[in-house]
Order: sequence, then structure tokens, then C-alpha cells
Amino acid sequence: MAAPRLEDLLRQPGGVRGKRVFVRADLNVPLRAGKISDDSRIRAALPTLRRLLAGGARVAVASHLGRPKGPSPELSLRPVADRLGELLGRPVGFCPAVVGPEAEAAVGALADGEILLLENVRFEPGETKNDPALAKQLARLADVYVNDAFGTAHRAHATTVGMVGLVPAVAAGDLLLAELEHLRVVREPARPLLCLLGGAKVSDKLAVLEALAPHADVLAIGGAMAYTFLRAAGEPVGSSLVESERLADASRVAEAARRAGRRLLLPVDHVIAEKVDAAAPHRVETRIPDGWMGLDIGPQTAALYAAEAGKAKTIFWNGPMGVFELDPFAGGTEAVARAVASSPATSVVGGGDSLAAVAKVGVGNRITHLSTGGGASLEYVQGLELPGVAALERR
Ligand code: 3PG
Repeated sequence: MAAPRLEDLLRQPGGVRGKRVFVRADLNVPLRAGKISDDSRIRAALPTLRRLLAGGARVAVASHLGRPKGPSPELSLRPVADRLGELLGRPVGFCPAVVGPEAEAAVGALADGEILLLENVRFEPGETKNDPALAKQLARLADVYVNDAFGTAHRAHATTVGMVGLVPAVAAGDLLLAELEHLRVVREPARPLLCLLGGAKVSDKLAVLEALAPHADVLAIGGAMAYTFLRAAGEPVGSSLVESERLADASRVAEAARRAGRRLLLPVDHVIAEKVDAAAPHRVETRIPDGWMGLDIGPQTAALYAAEAGKAKTIFWNGPMGVFELDPFAGGTEAVARAVASSPATSVVGGGDSLAAVAKVGVGNRITHLSTGGGASLEYVQGLELPGVAALERR
């Protein structure tokens, strides 16, 4: 990337000491009953923040949380400020405003090496609209802008794009750069490249399916979207979730792989039940009977995908292989997590459920890179420009 790096900023005479550094991070963490259920994104933001604080910067961190339509107390970043403070081992102030006199005063009151977190930037309606007036107000908080929010780099918002041209100096943070470097490996892979894609809907992943079908040596499909592919191939799928309006798209993706001389793999057996219910009787079948639905890949499929993982030099995995949140249908996703971890390939895993599966089976330390970006990583591997990155590069 052509944009300045945090590295460059720190090496300049005077570095960042005494400067107000606005860090756009992605601290969009999952909350359960107001409690942070997974703090990986906060941990991933630490290296950049630690380096800035050690350099004497006055750090204002900004992030979104969820998709609020306006201010809503249950999506306040306050609990994230507390957790960030625990992880950094120093107090992290919290500013209940995003911009305006209160935010300007709070940032202005920071001493060298102090840090605060601003309130959820999406409480400002101009954020997602990339409103120039909001971008101007945000820029007033910063002498330096650092983007470390890889997970939000595919959004052209005021804090990721709008304010970038308005701050005297900008840089890419350590996490953003590391993510791009690891994901570049999927764009320019050591072959064979195995892509494992799961999830409920073909419609959600159509663009990435179309991009990866001719690119990956092997594209292995799981999750409910496999049933749309199987139906399109004329296989019986019982009452499995099928997007009938996507059958033609699924056939086109399969044909694109075939024409490029690549292999597209679909499940050969399934964990089936009559309804999506952890208590419903379930069994493994190679053919799904009427009235039953496929809710996970079966053991033969898991073994087939694991064998491909063993042969691959590069692996990219995004999306669960079944209804992972229900124990009886979590086995396929967990087996894939173990297979990816056991492979000698360079492996990159992204997406909430895939990361949760990796954490559940305790193999995170054997995956080359756990991406903090779900949507962002999918857009990047399909070759799309990420607006947040492009904005830095234009500077
Ligand atoms: C994510 O969780 O993928 C990022 O934080 C982006 O969130 P968004 O999809 O609400 O823009």
C-alpha cells in the first residue's frame, strides 16, 4: 500500500508526541445482555494503540458498534472503553459525544500518552452517509488520522473515508496492514488454493462465489447455501433451505469453475432433521428424504474437505458448514476448523461463526491468520478496492 504507515509517522522527527491522534478502530464486538462475549477485535486493536501511547500521542479512538438508527443506549461503547482499559492496563476515558464541543474539549484535555474512546460513531446519522459536514467536525478532533479498522474498510463512511482528506497527516495502522498482507496471500496464492465457503445464502456470497470459482483450485461449499447448489445440480434436498431464485446463479458459478478447470465440491452426506431444533431427532444420510432438511455437512464430507485441506498450500475459510449455533449441527464446522488448523498450508479464516468454531475447538494458534474482517475480507479476496484503504492511498 502506498499510504504512510504508522511506522513512518513514529519515525518522523518529534514522532507523534503531543499530537492528537484519531484512531478509527473496529471495536464492533458481539454483546450478550450488555456484556462483551468476544473481545478479539479489542485485542487486535492493541498493538497500534500501545505504540501510539508509548510515543506520547494523545489518542482518541473511534468505532461503530452494531447498526443503530440513532443514539441507542444498548449500543453505547462505554463497556468497550472499560474492557480496552483492562487490556491496555491503563485508564481509558470515555466521551459520550462523537463530535462537537464536548468531544473537542475531551480530546483537548488529553495529556501526552493518554487515551479516550469516543461514543459509537453511528449515533451520528451522517456517519454511514459519509456526510461532509460530519467529516469536517471529526477532522477538528485530529492532528493525525490513523485507520486501523480493517473490519470496516469496505464501508465508505465519514470516519473511514470522509475525514481522511481533511486531517494534516494520515497513516495505516498495524492491524490494517497485517490484514492486507495476509489476505493478499489469498489473492496471489501458493497453489493449490482451497477456499471453504459456508453460510446460509448464496445471495449473500454470490459475488465472492463468482470471483473464487475460477480462482480457487478447489472451492468447497458448506452451510445451507450448499442446498441451493445441490438442487441446481438436480440432487434431492428434501425440505432444506433453498433459494429458488438463485438456482441459475448457482449453476453459473459451478459452470465457471468447470470451465476454468477448477473443482467445486458439494457435500456428499448430511446431518438431517425434520426441523431446525437442537432437540429434534437427527441422523446422517447421503440422500436427503422428503420432509427432512440438511443442517450440517456429514462426516464423509468433513473427511473429504479435510483431505483437500491436507493437500492445499493456501486455505481461505469463511462461513459455517451447518447450523453451528446448535450443538447437534456444529460437528461439520468444528471438523473443518480442526482440518484447517492441522494443514501445513498458509491459512486465513474470517467471519464470526468460523472464528467462533476455531476458538471453540481451541486451534486458533495453529491458523496463520484470524481475520477481524468478515465482509471486508470477502470483498478484498474477490479483488475489490476497499474504500477505507483507497482513501489512505489517495493521500
Ligand atoms: C463487521 O462486523 O463486519 C464490521 O464491523 C462492519 O460492520 P457493518 O457490516 O455493520 O458495516
